[in-house]
Amino acid sequence: MKLKLILAAALLAAGLTAQAAPIIVKYSHVVADQTPKGQAALKFKELAEKKLAGKVEVQVFPNSQLFGDGKEMEALALGDVQIIAPSLSKFSKYTKKLQVFDLPFLFDDIQAVDRFQSSKEGQDMLSSMKGKGIVGLGYLHNGMKQLSSNKPMPTPADAKGLKFRIQSSDVLEAQFKAVGANPQKLAFSEVYQALQTGVVDGQENTWSNIYSKKFHEVQKYIMNSNHGVIDYMVVANGKWWDSLPADVRKGLSEAMKESIAFGNKVATEEDDEFKAKVIADNKAKVLPLSKENTMAWRAAMKPVWKQFEGEIGADLIKAAEKANK
Ligand code: LMR
Repeated sequence: MKLKLILAAALLAAGLTAQAAPIIVKYSHVVADQTPKGQAALKFKELAEKKLAGKVEVQVFPNSQLFGDGKEMEALALGDVQIIAPSLSKFSKYTKKLQVFDLPFLFDDIQAVDRFQSSKEGQDMLSSMKGKGIVGLGYLHNGMKQLSSNKPMPTPADAKGLKFRIQSSDVLEAQFKAVGANPQKLAFSEVYQALQTGVVDGQENTWSNIYSKKFHEVQKYIMNSNHGVIDYMVVANGKWWDSLPADVRKGLSEAMKESIAFGNKVATEEDDEFKAKVIADNKAKVLPLSKENTMAWRAAMKPVWKQFEGEIGADLIKAAEKANK
């Protein structure tokens, strides 16, 4: 009996040591868990760990906890994080093509963005940073941007002289300059404080980001402008991705695809809910933008398209425009 037990223990120990430690996959992002990206990342963890039980462990780091803007791309290159999902506005150091997504008033709505991302041109851009060691695993939605500040801004003239926080995008910089405003590139984690202390007067963001980061508590007015989009590309370090065992890469690919579909559903279904929550909080006044005023904003910002046509490519801009119905 005793011998049997010893034998069983030895076999168990051998089995345990033979089993390889799980591959750790760190997935870092800058927004809150409740946002579409936050929920998609958690769904990815759940699905990947189910599909690849014992083979992978996914660690999700939200809220710029591990790496914020400006650091996460570098961390990805160094292998300190394996998956990140920056907004499409944050890739211009690596490819100029993705700047197309920042052109003001290009997409009518998130459905148009989706159609463009699913098109051949959109899909081709997923591999546009391969040469820089970055592989695109898929696009992920957030939503259309709204413009906020401490004064109502029905016309572009109302933005003149105001300081706006922008993501690190030259297109967005040009967009605000086009209306005589002063754009300032700031990391997402610094926006709340910059608004609170008056370092900037306003910002542009989606309803889920505004609500989950409480920007509406430090802004008096939000124009329901839908003037642009914040969407993401989920990316991995190409070398790391290629080095994964085939079954792990397949499992992670499937989990990513499903988690993106889940996140996209959240993005479309909950956008209105986040807007309703901002309105219900009654801190910032949400103002509609009339058709006429929307036209005026569009006309003021549209020259930016021409300005970046050379870098982005006229054909790509046309293809994106075609995605509107
Ligand atoms: C921002 O910086 O405003 C956004 O890109 C944050 C995000 O990831 O949604």
